[in-house]
Amino acid sequence: MKMLRGCVVTAVAGLALAGFGCSAKKVDVTDARPAIADGAVDPAEWGKLYPKQYQLWKQTSEPTPAGKSRYKKGWDVGEENPDKLDEYPFLALLYNGWAFGSEYKEPRGHYYMVQDQLEVDPGRYKAGGSCLTCKTPYAPALAGQLGRDYFAKPYQEIRGKIPKENQTLGVSCIDCHDNRTMTLKISRGFTLGKGLEKLGVDQSKLTQQDLRTLACAQCHVTYSIPKDEHMKSTDVFFPWDGSKWGGITIENIIKKLRSNKPSGEWTQSVTGFKLAFIRHPEFELFSNNSVHWQAGVTCADCHMPSSEVNGQKVSDHRIMSPLKNDLKACKQCHEESPEKMREKVYAIQDKVMSQYIRAGYATATVAKLFEMANKAQSFGKTPDKNLYAEAKDHYEEALYRVIFIGAENSIGFHNPSEAQRVLADASTHAAAADKLLREMLAKAGVDVPAKVDLELTKYVNNRGVKKLMFKPENEIKDPFAGK
Ligand code: HEC
Ligand code: HEC
Ligand code: HEC
Ligand code: HEC
Repeated sequence: MKMLRGCVVTAVAGLALAGFGCSAKKVDVTDARPAIADGAVDPAEWGKLYPKQYQLWKQTSEPTPAGKSRYKKGWDVGEENPDKLDEYPFLALLYNGWAFGSEYKEPRGHYYMVQDQLEVDPGRYKAGGSCLTCKTPYAPALAGQLGRDYFAKPYQEIRGKIPKENQTLGVSCIDCHDNRTMTLKISRGFTLGKGLEKLGVDQSKLTQQDLRTLACAQCHVTYSIPKDEHMKSTDVFFPWDGSKWGGITIENIIKKLRSNKPSGEWTQSVTGFKLAFIRHPEFELFSNNSVHWQAGVTCADCHMPSSEVNGQKVSDHRIMSPLKNDLKACKQCHEESPEKMREKVYAIQDKVMSQYIRAGYATATVAKLFEMANKAQSFGKTPDKNLYAEAKDHYEEALYRVIFIGAENSIGFHNPSEAQRVLADASTHAAAADKLLREMLAKAGVDVPAKVDLELTKYVNNRGVKKLMFKPENEIKDPFAGK
């Protein structure tokens, strides 16, 4: 029989708490079922023994219910998944100069992760095989066999080395489970394993609870794709240097990225600056001392709640936004109604969203001031070099914070106070850069209007090879605009 231990729930002051965190739900490895054959990658093979989990996993190929999430409209029933560049037009300005500024769609769901790459603006996988790292279950083997070629060679060439029938297969059972024991495992030693080493984590001491988060942290983390002198990718690494378990900070991430020249992955066209990039840091934001992290709650607790399928309890392998699942997960620990819980999520997200949009526009304005300064130089005016350098410093600090929160997919829910702290710092840095640049431009005899024209239409229209046009109906507005 399968054993599934859920949370040991005890009511504390109106909140049903799982002690301090859920007791780990363990997969019973004494199960009499035969083991999955070594080397079996196709989930259908695993599904023969575990049909319920397989069916749920497969359902990530279906659109999610519409109208249940205020800010994450990734492929809802009857709608196409929106582009972040339409949702947040200032991003089109900031990312102009590389493919993230051409097309940056909200995710469709686990089943489609490779398919979505094939459909996006091809500039998005210019980094080569590196881009398959958090997409295909073959990534660890390919990186092992091909070494540096895996990272550097063209995406389609490396994808072509995957067995034909699995070339569009996304995250699979084998990414998270050991085929013989069905226990959770880390399959991406070449990325996450090295990241954990930087944090000083002894991997032999990881608990089941840790693994219920780390299975996801194989991909839902930020990474840098360092470049050689020909702009060919050489690796994929996590910028966790100087950080610790339960405290990977934005300050340390930025420090690593800014001091590591090969992390300069792209050139921002508006400013001409060579910059690094930050991607989906769900694990970093969540694990940086959030309330839920401190209470021992894991990614799986909220995104894979235990559900009944034909009278049997299983972990919900149809991974999606908890809001689209009517907050079933929260019920394991919180006594409030789903409606009340949804309101709590929105209350947090509205505040973060407002601060994000404000910091984003403030940063975009600074980018345009740099554009003015660079132009002035070409007309023979000489802006003060020290002021320029100081402003650039503040600008990059602001920009990376905006990128960090914008790439994190929970609109701050995973760690509300930290998200707001990071955005407050972003705004402070943007304001400092703005002031310095205005002073510098005035000294150089350049007139700067009080309100800088961002010329957004230039950036949001005719994007990339598809010549995408702005869809104003998808723009997300500051929920506290005018307040
Ligand atoms: C092998 C890499 C990988 C692993 C492991 C992984 N994810 Fe994902 N996840 C992705 C990618 C890539 C996407 C974007 C998919 C797309 O292109 O539509 C995604 C999307 C999502 C989404 C958004 C889905 C939607 O409906 O829009 C959620 C929620 C999510 N993942 C949660 C998790 C959780 C929780 C875990 C751990 C139990 C996990 N993921 C493990 C790579 C991974
Ligand atoms: C306490 C519950 C909770 C925990 C723990 C949690 N999440 Fe979430 N997550 C949420 C909520 C709520 C949202 C917001 C969903 C929305 O706005 O529709 C979210 C959003 C997301 C999204 C975007 C979903 C989408 O539809 O685009 C991803 C991806 C994600 N979480 C991954 C993770 C990962 C990875 C972890 C662990 C590192 C994690 N979450 C931990 C509750 C949680
Ligand atoms: C993104 C990671 C991930 C993927 C992919 C994944 N699982 Fe799981 N699976 C989990 C987690 C997390 C648990 C909960 C384990 C625990 O706490 O003991 C789990 C639990 C299970 C269990 C134990 C019973 C249960 O439902 O809790 C089985 C069986 C299982 N998964 C089968 C599968 C099969 C079959 C596939 C592929 C079709 C698959 N899993 C894909 C993460 C994953
Ligand atoms: C495994 C248990 C568990 C699950 C599942 C869980 N929570 Fe919590 N939640 C807690 C604990 C413990 C606290 C801390 C309570 C305290 O210290 O007062 C908390 C605190 C909160 C808070 C207030 C703190 C903050 O971060 O601002 C909110 C809001 C919240 N949870 C929302 C949710 C939502 C929404 C879900 C479902 C998506 C969820 N929780 C799922 C255990 C859980």
